[in-house]
Amino acid sequence: MKYQSQKIAQNFYTFAALLFLVQVVVGIIAAIQFIYPDFFILNFNTIRTLHINALVVWLLVGMMGATYFVVPEESQRELWSIPLAKFQFWATVIAVTAVVLGYIWMGIDPQANKTVLGTLLLNEGREYIEAPRWADLLIVVSVLLFLFVNFMTMLKSKKWTGIQGTLLAGLTMLAIFYLPGMFYTKSMVKDQFWWWWVVHLWVEGCWEIIAGALLAFMLMKTINAPRHVVERWMYVEVALVLFTGILGTGHHYYWIGTPAYWQWVGGIFSSLEPIPLLIMTWDAFRNTREYRTVSNKIGVFYAVAHALFNFLGAGLWGVIHTLPQVNKWTHGTQITTAHGHLAFYGAYVLLVISMIYVTLPLIRGVSEFNTSRGYRSFWWMTISMIFIVLTITGAGMVQTYMERLLGLDYVAVKANYNLWFWILRAVFGVGFLYGVWLFVVDFFKLGKEPVEA
Ligand code: HEM
Ligand code: HEM
Ligand SMILES: [Fe+2]
Repeated sequence: MKYQSQKIAQNFYTFAALLFLVQVVVGIIAAIQFIYPDFFILNFNTIRTLHINALVVWLLVGMMGATYFVVPEESQRELWSIPLAKFQFWATVIAVTAVVLGYIWMGIDPQANKTVLGTLLLNEGREYIEAPRWADLLIVVSVLLFLFVNFMTMLKSKKWTGIQGTLLAGLTMLAIFYLPGMFYTKSMVKDQFWWWWVVHLWVEGCWEIIAGALLAFMLMKTINAPRHVVERWMYVEVALVLFTGILGTGHHYYWIGTPAYWQWVGGIFSSLEPIPLLIMTWDAFRNTREYRTVSNKIGVFYAVAHALFNFLGAGLWGVIHTLPQVNKWTHGTQITTAHGHLAFYGAYVLLVISMIYVTLPLIRGVSEFNTSRGYRSFWWMTISMIFIVLTITGAGMVQTYMERLLGLDYVAVKANYNLWFWILRAVFGVGFLYGVWLFVVDFFKLGKEPVEA
C-alpha cells in the first residue's frame, strides 16, 4: 500500500463482508419459506426485503471501499480528508443499521409503518430500494460526502487518469440516478416508470461503468497490463454499455402501461446489451494470456471469473427473456429470479470480492498469503450458484408452461409442481452459504496465517 489513507477501504470491506453473510442467511430463510410458508417469525415479504436490500447495500459499500483504495493510488496522493471519510463510513453503518431494524420492526408489527409528513416511516415500498424517506436523505448525504472526498483528492492530485475519471463518473451517475426513486406519483404506471430508472440504470448503466473501471484497474495491478491498453478497452466498453443500456430500459416497459413503442426500443437495444459484456470477458482473457507477470494469482482469478459470469448472468441469462415475444410469457416468473441471481452474483458479487483479493493483501502489507481457502470459497459459491440458477430456471420453465400456457392457478403450480425445485434450491443454498462462510473467514485471516510451503 502506497498511501496510509487507502487503509480506510478495509472498514468498508468488513461491513460489506458481514452484510453479505446476513444477506445469504436470510436468503436461505426465504428459500425455506417457499416450502413451509409459516417458517420463521418474520414473514416472507420482510425476509425478501432484507435479502435484496442487504445485497444492494453491501455491494455499494464494497464499491465505496474499492474507490477509496483506487483514487489515492491513481491520484498519487493521500485522501483529501481521512476524518471525513471515516465519518462517512460510520454514518453509513448507522443509517443502514437503523433501516434494517425498521424493516424488522415492521415485520413484527406491520401497523408500525405509519405515514409521517406524507412519507412512510419504516418502508417506502419499491423493491430493492425500500428504505424510507428519512433514510434516503441520509444516504444522499453519505454518498455526497463520499464523492466530495474523492473529487477533492483528484482535484489536488498531480494527475488525472482515465480509470479514476471513469470510476467517479459512474459513481456520480449512480448518485444522480438514486433520485428518481424518491418520486411519489398517484399513477402506478409513472411510479414504476421512474423506479426502473434507478433499478435498471444502476445495474445496467452506472454499475457496469464502475465494473469496467475496476476491471481495468485490476488487470493493471495483477498482471501488469499496460495502462493505455486497458484504458482504451475500458472506453469502448463504457460507450457500448451506455449506448445499449440506456434505451435498453425499455425491456421493463413492455407491460406496465407505457406506450407500445417501448417493445421495439427495449427489444432491440437490450438485445445488444450482452456485446459490451462479451468484450469485457474477452478483454480479461486476452490480457491475462498476453501479460504473464502475475503478482496476485487469486486476485486475477476472481477478476476473470467476474468478467465471465457478468457475461453469463447478465448477458446470456438476460438476453434469453429480453425480447417482448419471449418476455410476454416469462415476465415475473422464476426465470426472472434465476437471471437476477446469476447477474448480481457474476457482475457485482464477484467484482467486489475480486477487488478485495486484489487490494486487501496490499492494505495488510503481505505479498504472499495462503490462498487455498479463497479458492475453495470460490468453488463452493460458484458451483452452488450455478445449480441454484439451473434449478430455478427449471422451476421458471414449469411455471411458465403450467401457469401461462395451461392456465393453472399460481398457487397450485407453486405448491405442487414446483415443490422439488424449491427443495433443491434450499439445498444448494446451504452449499452457497458454506462458500460465503469460507470467504468471510478468509477475509479476516488473510495475511495473518503462516504461508504454506
Ligand atoms: C449486471 C447486470 C444486471 C443485473 C444485476 C440484472 C438484474 C435483474 C434483476 C434483479 C431483475 C428482476 C427485477 C424485478 O424484481 O422485477 C432483472 C430483470 C430483467 N433483466 Fe436484468 N440484470 C442485469 C442485466 C441484464 C441484461 C444485460 C439484460 C438483457 C440482455 C437483462 C434483462 C432483463 C429483463 C428482460 C428483465 C425483466 C424480467 C421480467 O420481465 O420479469 N438484464 N434483472
Ligand atoms: C450472492 C448470492 C445471491 C444473490 C446475488 C441473490 C440475489 C437475489 C435477487 C436479486 C433476488 C430478487 C429476484 C427477483 O425479484 O426476481 C433474490 C430473491 C431471492 N433469493 Fe437470492 N440471492 C443470493 C443468494 C441466495 C441464496 C443462497 C438463497 C437461498 C437458497 C436465495 C434465495 C432467494 C429467494 C428464495 C428469493 C425470493 C425469490 C422470489 O421472490 O421468487 N438467494 N435474490
Ligand atoms: Fe434491465
